[in-house]
Amino acid sequence: MPHYGKFTPTWQSSATLVFGTPGAIRSALVCPATMKNPTSIGPAQVSPIGTTLERHLLDRQRRMPEATGDFTGLFQQISLAAKIIGSRVSKAGLSGILGRTGTTNVQGEQVQKLDDFANSTIVSTVEAGGHVCVMGSEEVEQPIQIPPQYPQGKYVLQFDPLDGSGNIDINASIGTIFSIHRRLSPDGEPGTLKDLLQPGIDIVAAGYVVYGSSNMLVYSTGDQVDGFTYDPGVGEFFLSHPNIKVPQRGGIYSINEGNYHSWDKRIQSWVDWIKTPTENKKPYRLRYIGAMVADLHRTLLRGGVFVYPRDSKNVNGKLRLLYEASPMAFLVEAAGGAASDGKNRILTIQPKELHQRTPVFMGSPDDVADVLRFANA
Ligand code: AHG
Ligand code: MN
Ligand code: MN
Repeated sequence: MPHYGKFTPTWQSSATLVFGTPGAIRSALVCPATMKNPTSIGPAQVSPIGTTLERHLLDRQRRMPEATGDFTGLFQQISLAAKIIGSRVSKAGLSGILGRTGTTNVQGEQVQKLDDFANSTIVSTVEAGGHVCVMGSEEVEQPIQIPPQYPQGKYVLQFDPLDGSGNIDINASIGTIFSIHRRLSPDGEPGTLKDLLQPGIDIVAAGYVVYGSSNMLVYSTGDQVDGFTYDPGVGEFFLSHPNIKVPQRGGIYSINEGNYHSWDKRIQSWVDWIKTPTENKKPYRLRYIGAMVADLHRTLLRGGVFVYPRDSKNVNGKLRLLYEASPMAFLVEAAGGAASDGKNRILTIQPKELHQRTPVFMGSPDDVADVLRFANA
């Protein structure tokens, strides 16, 4: 739960924060002044157990008369995949021990690389649900088709099953990133590459899961960004960070500074500037986890700027547009931040290839404006 000074926030519904002392909150919740018609939308009173992700989705679904439940169904499958991946991630250190006798673990299963495991977990959880017609994954070169025995749904899912996988062996944070678009191809037919090559501006919902000191799922449908923390004892994600807003300016820059000598000199000047104290400015702190999800999760909560520019090795940047940059840009903008490729909003880039790369400048609006001023000098 975020800290709100001496006030205790609690949730009346997914859209209303109630502030006050515990006694005042109880009275407000027994008879909420804003509730004209208690049976019209979702829960009449705050739940003593908190708001689960499922309940949050159902509340939103009930607010949209045209909703069919498809979106909620797809999200439930994504959240199941996140729980399964999170459980495997927490045993990552054991995989060498469990797999020591050969290629199988004690259950007689193949010990898989965690990226492959995460990929096949998402594919097999989602494909049978009937909500998507095609998927795109960092781990799979071509579009992933839905097997003919399952219905072809109306959504398109793209994902980075495990982001920052270099961190697995050192027990540092990693993540999963996803985005959902509506299909462009005719209903009922298999989805196509064209369904996947859609700009971020047309995303219906995007999110990420961070597997860290706790596991969190953060998602947005474009209006606001909400974060849910996983309670492993219960096996559910609970709303813990409602309506995340990125600060207008932060005090942290996040970039792989080891690439300094491969950058354009304008990026070098920005880094020189941001860490140099002046009369009006303290030097920014450097934080770089090396997993985009974790670096941007911190940026959303604390502010600052995350940058992966083009360099002499990665001439188009390193991060992938469709399943890394676009979904994260969607979340950052929904939280009030900015996300650019150095010239344009990332969300407006029309993708041409499934695994296309892009430079990334994202975070607090004032900090992004600063780096873009240098980058375009
Ligand atoms: P992935 O593990 O999905 O391939 O992504 C790694 C990405 C991203 O998470 C991170 O921000 C970046 O690579 C780190 O790259 P460097 O090691 O070049 O800094
Ligand atoms: Mn990644
Ligand atoms: Mn990955």
